[in-house]
Amino acid sequence: MTAFRLAAPVAGARILGLGSTQPDEVVTNDDLARRIDTNDQWIRERVGIVSRRIAPESLSLVDMATDAGARAVKDAGLEPGDVDTTIVATCTMPDTIPNAAAQTAERIGIRAGAAFDVNAACAGFCYALGTAADLVRAGSSRRVLVIGAEKLSDWLDWDDRSTAIIFADGAGAAVVGAADDAESVGIGPVAWGSAGDLAQAINIHHDRRSRAGGALHQEGQTVFRWATTQIAPVALRAIEMAGLTPADIDVLVPHQANLRIVEAVAKRLRKHGAREDMRVADDIVHSGNTSSASIPLALDHMRAEGRVRSGETVLLVGFGAGLSYAGQVVRFP
Ligand code: UT7
Repeated sequence: MTAFRLAAPVAGARILGLGSTQPDEVVTNDDLARRIDTNDQWIRERVGIVSRRIAPESLSLVDMATDAGARAVKDAGLEPGDVDTTIVATCTMPDTIPNAAAQTAERIGIRAGAAFDVNAACAGFCYALGTAADLVRAGSSRRVLVIGAEKLSDWLDWDDRSTAIIFADGAGAAVVGAADDAESVGIGPVAWGSAGDLAQAINIHHDRRSRAGGALHQEGQTVFRWATTQIAPVALRAIEMAGLTPADIDVLVPHQANLRIVEAVAKRLRKHGAREDMRVADDIVHSGNTSSASIPLALDHMRAEGRVRSGETVLLVGFGAGLSYAGQVVRFP
């Protein structure tokens, strides 16, 4: 029997470039308080959000994915034709088919590339990044465009104060390419998993009778308790899998679900040796919770603010509906 010929593997993968985009419209807590029974103080204290960006009807999820993806390709110093695979992490596509990735790739100018969506909700970007790194390492893809894109505003009940104040729209992207030697590997192994016993804690059940086709529901306290107890151990596992210790982490970028969850994860990591001067993403303050877009948005914004620099060690950890979670350590490009 002749053995199959396989693609030649490489040492590992690294991030080559980043990009992001948000809608222009800023919606403040006071804006929401004019419609629903809420107030600025409650939202700031309980969730940490001051304002968020909401897309108009004319701006689609694929529009945002295209903009963020094109920026990441340019930032990587590449042409669209240099990318052979596009993965869009999303849980808010208006249509079940076609997927977002093939349309997005086509619009960026990536012709005939592999293209698929990943739905792991707020863990989606880390799932897609882990998949992309392994595709590159195995030799299945040379350069992968990974995009987290969400238009959550399409799936909110704007009269439900427990969800309308939290979620928002946007897209962020990274280009993943080969690291030819061990020294230049820039994406660590992914620590991932799921808690399907809590599957109904966050859901969008399609309802053809409603105008929007369904709305997001979440058992806030159940998810809060789960996230504040179960996510730091995932982050610690990702650090260990990369052969590092918590003290090696320069920047922590957890999914921006709630500033209190972000702070709880940082506190647990510091108890395990993470440094006091570890910078912690707080992008939720002006971006809201953008699900799979929140981690790449935070990375791109922190770079623009000079809060993360090339070569630094960054810990990513996403978590949310599924319930699904994933984390990995990356070297900032
Ligand atoms: O991204 C996907 C993953 N998702 C998450 O990680 C979300 C995790 N959960 C959370 O972040 C929080 O549970 C929420 C932000 C969703 C809610 O915060 P909470 O501190 O758990 O509030 P709660 O639901 O326990 O409500 C506390 C009180 C209630 O009033 P009573 O019963 O104490 O009188 C609510 O009715 O706050 C009230 N409340 C509000 N008040 C003003 C709930 N929503 C609002 C609101 N404005 N928007």
